[in-house]
Amino acid sequence: MEPQSARITGWGMYAPQGVLTNADLERLVDTSDEWIMTRTGIRERRVAGPGETTATMGAVAARRAIATAGLEPDDIDMILLATCTPDYQLPSTAAFVKEAIGNRRAAAMDLAAACSGFVYAFATANSMVRSGMARHVLVIGSELLTRFLDFTDRSTCVLFGDGAGAVVVSASDEPGGGMLDAELTTDPSGAYLIWVPSGGSASPPSSQTVARGEHFIRMNGSETYRYATKTLASTALRAIERAGLTADDIALFVPHQANLRIIRFVANSMGIDMERVYVNVERYGNTSAASVPIALAEAVDAGRIKVGDNIVFVAFGAGFTSGAAVVQWTADPANGRRARSVDDHASVHAPADWQAAAPVPDVLMDVLSRNGASPAPVAPKVHA
Ligand SMILES: CC(C)(COP(=O)(O)OP(=O)(O)OC[C@H]1O[C@@H](n2cnc3c(N)ncnc32)[C@H](O)[C@@H]1OP(=O)(O)O)[C@@H](O)C(=O)NCCC(=O)NCCS
Repeated sequence: MEPQSARITGWGMYAPQGVLTNADLERLVDTSDEWIMTRTGIRERRVAGPGETTATMGAVAARRAIATAGLEPDDIDMILLATCTPDYQLPSTAAFVKEAIGNRRAAAMDLAAACSGFVYAFATANSMVRSGMARHVLVIGSELLTRFLDFTDRSTCVLFGDGAGAVVVSASDEPGGGMLDAELTTDPSGAYLIWVPSGGSASPPSSQTVARGEHFIRMNGSETYRYATKTLASTALRAIERAGLTADDIALFVPHQANLRIIRFVANSMGIDMERVYVNVERYGNTSAASVPIALAEAVDAGRIKVGDNIVFVAFGAGFTSGAAVVQWTADPANGRRARSVDDHASVHAPADWQAAAPVPDVLMDVLSRNGASPAPVAPKVHA
């Protein structure tokens, strides 16, 4: 039976313990705290430790979202994980999340739309719940970007960080609330402006592609900046219009956290004052698909969102993709307290006859040990 509405019932986030500051980056590449702060607004970002993967981070955020929703892992019947930094090319990272959260019944799949991935997955979850195909969909954005960065390229390595965020979208028998409307766009003219050249079928991995650093993220920053500022505003406005609202009706914007200058420019061009925009880019950098759900979880837990508020998620990323969703908030923000009992540990099984190469780049291991962070909440591996 089709429900009356599909509502966000749970939210949660996870940020790894390791911190990489601008001062640390000054020791790695020719850059400065002043340059990074003025061009991006980023002060520090998080770095996953050796025991962590995109799946384990996503699983911690997911367990928090499930706890907040007052559900058990087995209540989830669909897991959608947005990422551009999966644990493996095959199988999906979502399959490992299913294992790590202890769910026995859900279907699980990954979704690739880069930094817009969470908004795409959220809109997909909404459709699945509204159509009656699923009652509780777990939507996760999880990214481990520090393993795909060239720490000799100052134009990219200062921008990105690791983390995960999640929501639960649930069927409700009460009408109203939840996602009011969404706008999703894709413009392949920007396809090579943010990309990882090798490792896929167009350019399979080889010793040459690795020697040329083609497994790292490449980006044309200034072209991306121009396109992002324009598209974030038009996508958000289109979603708001489709929902039958105006920008004045929106209590809080939760934008993708790529760059403070981009966020300010977009707010200004939409005539929104920054009090109505949630910003945490200074602490996490750009966490791609994880940035909107991390920002959402922080915003709700900080009391920035109340029942009845209209909020907007808006993101932009490689592809070029963009996505915006207008949501009427229905959940009691105090439910966030239920996530406090969920610890930082998650693990997945590994094949008994195979050992991954040391996953964290050496330069980052040095930084993590210098900063005194235990580089990982060590996830005990359970062997098959
Ligand atoms: C990356 C970004 C911060 C660069 O800022 P910018 O003002 O556009 O800077 P430019 O790329 O034009 O580079 C200006 C100069 O700074 C230099 N520079 C680049 N990175 C630097 C760094 N980390 N430290 C110091 N100098 C740096 C460049 O080499 C260039 O030097 P040059 O003029 O001598 O050639 C900005 O373009 C941006 O935010 N782009 C969008 C990126 C993004 O959000 N991507 C993800 C979308 S989801």
